[in-house]
Amino acid sequence: MPTNTPYKNILVSGGAGFIGSNFIHYWLKKYPDTNLVNLDALTYAGNLENLKEVENLPNYKFIQGNILDRQLVNEIMPGIDLVVHFAAESHVDRSILEPAVFLETNAIGTQVLLEAALKNKVKRFHHISTDEVFGSLELESDEQFNDQTPYDPRSPYSASKAASDHLVRAYGETFGLPYIITNCSNNYGEYHFPEKLFPLAITNLIEGKKIPVYGDGKNVRDWLYVQDHCSAIDAVLHRGENAETYLVGGLTEDISNLEIVKMIINLMGESEDKIEFVKDRLGHDRRYSVDWSKLNKKLDWKPDVTLEEGLTKTISWYKNNPQWWQPLKEKSQEFFKINYKQG
Ligand code: NAD
Ligand code: TYD
Repeated sequence: MPTNTPYKNILVSGGAGFIGSNFIHYWLKKYPDTNLVNLDALTYAGNLENLKEVENLPNYKFIQGNILDRQLVNEIMPGIDLVVHFAAESHVDRSILEPAVFLETNAIGTQVLLEAALKNKVKRFHHISTDEVFGSLELESDEQFNDQTPYDPRSPYSASKAASDHLVRAYGETFGLPYIITNCSNNYGEYHFPEKLFPLAITNLIEGKKIPVYGDGKNVRDWLYVQDHCSAIDAVLHRGENAETYLVGGLTEDISNLEIVKMIINLMGESEDKIEFVKDRLGHDRRYSVDWSKLNKKLDWKPDVTLEEGLTKTISWYKNNPQWWQPLKEKSQEFFKINYKQG
């Protein structure tokens, strides 16, 4: 495994969130000779508990701040040679309840970072995006998203992420900013905020509660263990080509939300009467499926962890870390009340 990197000073935005914190652990373990600055506003989704193991490292620095704060971003950027941009509002259901902040952070916030990165001549701006920008595929079809798929976002979240992708390409084309975009499918794993399906299902079962499944439960997502997403970003950062887009995914066969929930129930030794069908999400995308063959063929990347292995690890982590998720669920009570209101 190569442990050399041309990047010496890295800015990670949104590093106190789910994927950002997993990436920081991954990166600092693999490239201990680099300096890493984590800029995070600590919204409801940001949590410094995710970073306890690294907080005292001399080459790690946390700055609490908003990517919308141009002055702050301009102060931090000098000397940075790589930006890995995770910071975003990320929950589709919250984007339905309160779209404005998604546009502010995801679109304008990205532009603030791009401008400062350009001015300071970074070697690479790596933009972390989602497969949701490509819209929704039909159930029972074998169609997949690839890097030629036209954009067709359908939720305020995916529309704001699409806007951010367009801005990144615009800065590349117009001003010559070196960039790469990765569009990844649904991640799961440690430090996943307990409003999202997997951690909600696991922690609800631990608490003796039911698992809310939207609509008929037939919606399909492409799931990837978060550390595999980190290794994909690593591959792209070191072997990817400038101005390219790489799609990252985990599965080769469709699996519906209902099937996944049943897998979780079985792995936890619970009964299927713990499933509760609830009102569907507005505009609920039916199916995502990612063709990740470009990343596989060109950069020799593939996921390491199967869905069953990843779920087993994740379940055991949530069982062992109630002190991490219980306070977060407590703080989300208001959101749960509004989001799961029936009728
Ligand atoms: P998350 O919600 O867990 O974390 C987001 C982090 O960004 C939090 O720490 C939050 O405090 C921070 N943040 C939010 N607004 C900010 C602002 N204005 N300024 C500074 N920091 C701010 O999200 P995540 O699941 O870790 O997702 C990270 C990135 O990966 C996002 O860009 C998301 O679109 C993308 N992505 C996520 C998934 C997934 O399945 N979770 C899949 C593909 C792509
Ligand atoms: P989520 O984890 O919110 O990710 P995304 O919407 O970004 O794909 O949801 C994953 C899938 O699970 C999605 O199809 C919506 C569904 N879902 C439920 O059925 N019940 C729930 O309580 C939640 C949060 C999600």
